[in-house]
Amino acid sequence: MERSLTMELVRVTEAAALGSARWMGRGKKDEADDAATSAMRDVFDTVPMKGTVVIGEGEMDEAPMLYIGEKLGTGFGPRVDVAVDPLEGTNIVAAGGWNALAVVAIADTGNLLHAPDMYMEKIAVGPEAVGKIDINASVLENLQAVAKAKNKEVCDIVATVLNRPRHDHIIAQLREAGARIKLINDGDVAAAINTAFEHTGVDILFGTGGAPEGVLSAVALKCLGGEIQGKLIPSNDEEIARCQKMGIEVNKVLLMDDLVKGDDAIFAATGVTDGELLRGVQFTGKYGTTHSVVMRAKSGTVRFIEGTHYLNKKPHFVCK
Ligand code: FBP
Repeated sequence: MERSLTMELVRVTEAAALGSARWMGRGKKDEADDAATSAMRDVFDTVPMKGTVVIGEGEMDEAPMLYIGEKLGTGFGPRVDVAVDPLEGTNIVAAGGWNALAVVAIADTGNLLHAPDMYMEKIAVGPEAVGKIDINASVLENLQAVAKAKNKEVCDIVATVLNRPRHDHIIAQLREAGARIKLINDGDVAAAINTAFEHTGVDILFGTGGAPEGVLSAVALKCLGGEIQGKLIPSNDEEIARCQKMGIEVNKVLLMDDLVKGDDAIFAATGVTDGELLRGVQFTGKYGTTHSVVMRAKSGTVRFIEGTHYLNKKPHFVCK
């Protein structure tokens, strides 16, 4: 893949963030998502690549844009797999909450997990605990392994978990073990990435969220030297059939190389609302300011980029 695609992907996530950030706190998650999706789609049309969405907004009959199988890019350039989540945290934006992101990842064709938009059980850690976690082990065993790897006590470990009834058993086990817990209402991509950044204070992510979010997190953690393991969790027979059609074994443990193969992949995210890692979009009259991270697995380079966007030249991002 060409190195220049890293900057192209930032343009894509910046546009999605600028579009959806106008909806912050306005209680309209679908409008926020639509704004992100169409802004992202428009910029993808200018990116020199032959991209195919392998995991994204859903199947063609469910999503008008950025659906699985959709072709992206100018049609000239490298053939790549694309994973997209134009707005990771639709409810977050609707409520003006914390950690909403616009996110994309690409890898050489055939290298990203091609899976339906369904649930995935996940466990994720940063570089210090790579090789120490096991999605099939107990919560306590994983906590002990991470604590040992990070030279901490279990009671020092901070685990992030989506606050859902399906996670009550995980939360109970974390409390029983004496770990510290950060319950989040949404946004497990940011939570997974945070495990790789010491200053966020998060050591491990447990729990089930979206499969696209799992693949996106895997690309980010590959760039950062961290680790995520996943298992697809079908909710019904239809989802099992979809997995079979895509040649995926349900309940198989998906390791880093199953989620993102090879040594190269690029991940970009722009903050829509403020979070531990990225600031959200700021509008100051004539300008919109974005804060993004872009990273590449091959080189391990991580760049934080602040963008100033002159809104007169981007009329679709001005106040309506
Ligand atoms: P959306 O932006 O699609 O709403 O996803 C937000 C999110 O919290 C993800 O971060 C997470 O993986 C998933 O939803 C969890 O799904 P659910 O809300 O169904 O528990």
